[in-house]
Amino acid sequence: MEGAGEIPKSTRRTPRSWSQPPVLVYADTKEVARAVAKRFVQMSRESIAGGGAFRVALAGGKTPQLLYQLLADHEFRSQIDWSSLHMFWGDERCVPPEHPESNYGMARRELFARVPIPRENIHRMQAERTDVEQAARDYEEVLRQFLSMDAQGFPRFHLILLGLGQDGHTASLFPSWSAWHDAPGWVCAPDVESAGVRRMTLTLPVLNAAHHVIFMVTGEDKADVLRRVAKDGDQRLPAQRVRPVEGELLFVVDAAAGARLRGTAP
Ligand code: 6PG
Repeated sequence: MEGAGEIPKSTRRTPRSWSQPPVLVYADTKEVARAVAKRFVQMSRESIAGGGAFRVALAGGKTPQLLYQLLADHEFRSQIDWSSLHMFWGDERCVPPEHPESNYGMARRELFARVPIPRENIHRMQAERTDVEQAARDYEEVLRQFLSMDAQGFPRFHLILLGLGQDGHTASLFPSWSAWHDAPGWVCAPDVESAGVRRMTLTLPVLNAAHHVIFMVTGEDKADVLRRVAKDGDQRLPAQRVRPVEGELLFVVDAAAGARLRGTAP
């Protein structure tokens, strides 16, 4: 069994040869949120015009909070056709929706409570269920119902928002979880000590099936790991293995997180 520090074998899908992803650096967290909010509006318009709906997997954690607040403010709220949006999650903690650590709960407080999105368009991961493995399989059926498939049979989101942990995790694909790079299926429920509470997460092939993936990374505590992911290409980090097969990858970061992207490796 591979340990967390070894370079994982090739994943189920042969990744293209790696090249540094585009990184946009903004002055601060508010400018990062504004930049992503503008892209969110643009992508929603393009996808609704092209096919009638905009299907997004939201990120959890603290970083996207400002973005969700901004999308709920009149400036951006008024530019979005909320009835054509379907919201999903990239991962969820195994806690009830009203728990302070719930990713759904945070999005409900900061966004859904302030915008006219139909309740039936919000597809939360029921990670609080006792049989979380069954809940993961049930979420795969939700993805099958609402998403189209790519050429390799994986569900395709229009946009997946992701964050970056200091250990290089993204969604709930943690480097300390030996199966992060080849977990089966579309949704799984890793029980990883370093994650604290148990999680439910989309698997790597689903992240890589997306039309667009945007990483939002802010804060000086992410400068080292962002360099390892976006400049050094360290394959031991799950975030570095997010490479949309037929989609676009973009990092939107603040100056503090991007401080180590310039210059040569130490
Ligand atoms: C979660 C997220 C996780 C997060 C990173 C960064 O449920 O915690 O999905 O992957 O994006 O841990 O978290 P911060 O934005 O809080 O730094």
